[in-house]
Amino acid sequence: MEHSIALVTGTTSGLGYAAARILAGEGWREIFATGRSLALVQESAAQLAAETKRQVFTPLELDLDKPSSVQSALAEIVKRGRPIDFLLLNAGMVPGKKRVLTAAGVEASQAPLIGHHQLTVGLLRANLLSPNARIVIAGAEPARGGVPLFSYTDVPAFAAKYHQGDRTAAVEALIRNGPNVKYVPNNAYADAKLIIAWWVAALARRLPSGMAVYAVSPGAATDTKVVRNAGPALKYLMIPIVNLIPGMNQTPETAARRYLQASKFGTDVSGQFFASAQGKFTGPIEAQCHPHLHDRASQEAAWQAVVKVSGIDLLSRHP
Ligand SMILES: NC(=O)c1ccc[n+]([C@@H]2O[C@H](COP(=O)([O-])OP(=O)(O)OC[C@H]3O[C@@H](n4cnc5c(N)ncnc54)[C@H](OP(=O)(O)O)[C@@H]3O)[C@@H](O)[C@H]2O)c1
Repeated sequence: MEHSIALVTGTTSGLGYAAARILAGEGWREIFATGRSLALVQESAAQLAAETKRQVFTPLELDLDKPSSVQSALAEIVKRGRPIDFLLLNAGMVPGKKRVLTAAGVEASQAPLIGHHQLTVGLLRANLLSPNARIVIAGAEPARGGVPLFSYTDVPAFAAKYHQGDRTAAVEALIRNGPNVKYVPNNAYADAKLIIAWWVAALARRLPSGMAVYAVSPGAATDTKVVRNAGPALKYLMIPIVNLIPGMNQTPETAARRYLQASKFGTDVSGQFFASAQGKFTGPIEAQCHPHLHDRASQEAAWQAVVKVSGIDLLSRHP
């Protein structure tokens, strides 16, 4: 991929900031740096420019909870009229004890996917992704299971119990955290990242042939603000323990490099979820093979649920 134009969401801290800095170092010519507050993202962009000594950062206000904000960001990109080569959908959060719903009735840790879907489909419709564009979205290990304190929902079983087997309705219930969904913050996060892995697989089937999309877990990087809302068990128990175990934590820069590594992958692995090896949170990334991640009915249900909640669809390449 020619190092030309990238867009990174959530650059006001953590991995988005680190990724934007690395991209500048790698010679990208323009990097849209987004954040939900224009003042904060302008500040981050100025800091990035000072650190990297490169004037390549374009701050862009983008609150993924608000469709109007996504539309304004899209309008700004359309006005500039230059296609994006690397779309890094990094923004995300671990939700807190108190359940938060957006104005559109979406649970807060699910909301970034809805905004990212609106942004991605908007760019595709406007022909503003380059023919060989790479899309990377932040996943996380809880989506594959086996992470202490986090459990994802068995969607087929949940659909059978409450939605007459309709998985689209079941995924929509998880996105909205109801009906019949008990709010457990870490599980909401695991479900959000599982739905992301499914959405990626479904999007890959709909992209023009030169483009590719991957879900990528950056792995554990506790020196970010990701758990700012999290409960005490995660903040004061799990993370300090993980930090004590050699090889279980990494710098934000190392974590962010996983996104960039995936951006160089081919179309042959488009639609896959890359994460640490089983039982690990650092080290090399590998394509995840767990059967629930590859369940096509769940992948398509996730796509349809996201389409329904966001109100935006993309015509399928392989209908
Ligand atoms: N750090 C880890 O150990 C780890 C592990 C696995 C996966 N991840 C994933 O990596 C990604 C980055 O996390 P991080 O560790 O860098 O966390 P972070 O320091 O909290 O940064 C998250 C960024 O996302 C933005 N953001 C969150 N929700 C948003 C929304 N609704 N609209 C717009 N922007 C939003 C934040 O903006 P505000 O400051 O305005 O909220 C911030 O810029 C997340 O998707 C996270 O789930 C992280």
